[in-house]
Amino acid sequence: MSTDSSSSFSPSSLKQAAAEKSLEFIQDGTTVGLGTGSTVRYLLEALAQRVQEGLRIQGVPTSQETAALAAKLNIPLVDDEAAWEIDVAIDGADEIDPQWNLIKGGGGALLREKIIAANAKKFVVIVDAAKQVSALGLSFPLPVEVIPFGWPSTARKIEQLGYQVTLREKNNQTFLTDNHNYIFDLKGEEFNIPSEVAQQILALPGVVEVGLFVGMTSALVVGSPQGAIVYHHPPVT
Ligand code: 5RP
Repeated sequence: MSTDSSSSFSPSSLKQAAAEKSLEFIQDGTTVGLGTGSTVRYLLEALAQRVQEGLRIQGVPTSQETAALAAKLNIPLVDDEAAWEIDVAIDGADEIDPQWNLIKGGGGALLREKIIAANAKKFVVIVDAAKQVSALGLSFPLPVEVIPFGWPSTARKIEQLGYQVTLREKNNQTFLTDNHNYIFDLKGEEFNIPSEVAQQILALPGVVEVGLFVGMTSALVVGSPQGAIVYHHPPVT
């Protein structure tokens, strides 16, 4: 990991430390789910180096952004519609609580990220220490993917549940996911019982997926000023 004295503990150097450490979860000859975001970009760069040195893996990307970067770095990828057997998926998060539940979707890739995490034998989360929170939703809004059809009505239904809904924009345009859907960012109270929040929102017609990943994390790598720390087992709840 390259550092300089002014940035040795910057969020990006902590992300890089976590990403590079997570390489230890990737074995030769395996299929690897590749997440999305700035932390994963460090993973792709480090993984590309290993591939160049002879590591044989195939990646399953969670977004077009990741697919494009992986292809540029010569990381072999499997077809989107193949019947994957994913040994390990590695991805970042926007927030992680003490039970290892996550908010994801800051990059808008939550649907594909959840499909790949759910289909991986092991789901490894890589974060910088600032992502660790006492309860989800205190600082980061909850991303929810919805279909464009009738979206104002879907927004109203979610508001009736007590959340403030913001339709995500990018460059003054409505943000479109890789699946041609919209993203709502929800603010409300903290999500103390994330499984109930997820079920409640997911039950609404028009909602495709909710960026709460409950009980899915099987290992965690945290980049901290003390170095990258690996936790191999979820906390007992
Ligand atoms: C993308 C995600 C990312 O994992 C999440 O936003 C974290 O991103 P970063 O590594 O850039 O902090 O869920 O949809």
